[in-house]
Amino acid sequence: MATFTLPKNSTIGTGQTYRAEAGAKNVKSFKIYRFDPDTGENPRYDTYELDLDKCGPMVLDALIKIKNEVDTTLTFRRSCREGICGSCAMNIDGMNTLACLKPIEEVAKKDVRITPLPHMPVVKDLVPDLSHIYAQLRSVEPWLKSDTPPPPDEERRQSKEERAKLDGLWECILCFCCSTACPSYWWNGDRYLGPAVLLQAYRWIADSRDEATGERLDNLEDPFRLYRCHTIMNCAATCPKGLNPAAAIGKIKQMMVERQG
Ligand code: SF4
Ligand code: F3S
Ligand code: FES
Repeated sequence: MATFTLPKNSTIGTGQTYRAEAGAKNVKSFKIYRFDPDTGENPRYDTYELDLDKCGPMVLDALIKIKNEVDTTLTFRRSCREGICGSCAMNIDGMNTLACLKPIEEVAKKDVRITPLPHMPVVKDLVPDLSHIYAQLRSVEPWLKSDTPPPPDEERRQSKEERAKLDGLWECILCFCCSTACPSYWWNGDRYLGPAVLLQAYRWIADSRDEATGERLDNLEDPFRLYRCHTIMNCAATCPKGLNPAAAIGKIKQMMVERQG
């Protein structure tokens, strides 16, 4: 499977090494990207040795242990530690994934290298700036649009078949592992919406209760916003929820063709 790395950056320096306590037998090193724009210094990797016998099983457990016990300045996002909030998305050992779902023992190398999601501006350490991608998400209006008022005394109904069309879409947690693994998004992220946002767009196009399908397709009919997907498939390979944004994008493209016929 392809791995995704930061572009080669000769200015990433080597920082401090924090050794495990003497006598620790089950030691693993975590080599973590550090960057603080307020200092004006170049990014660096700091190395933290941890005794895995005194650490929880997931990479997020290691990060929390480092922050609590070794270096309080280490900065990262996390909330649910259950794989449902999407906050802890980062690049671990070359793959974009969720730190709370990634077992440390799955990283075979002695050094676990951790960097922010690739090709995003960095706010601090492992925290990417998601402002632009959230603006792109807003642009597809990810909510139900309908002129028909709901029935007065019940919710809007769907058949089981209509509801099944949302499977593989509603589970998306907006972690953006997919978009930040997509080379097309790396190169044209200013105008290409990327797999996460397009999967969200299709989630509403596919919803039988939504009445804005034509308007939604018009909004995507653009050489960059939709058609910069070149079926590279990194998105499906990296999604920690096992979703396939490429398939959703393919269905949007198919609907574009069908409505011309
Ligand atoms: Fe994350 Fe998967 Fe949704 Fe992409 S499709 S944002 S990788 S959950
Ligand atoms: Fe990118 Fe996935 Fe398309 S990796 S080019 S969005 S198939
Ligand atoms: Fe919520 Fe990892 S902390 S997905």
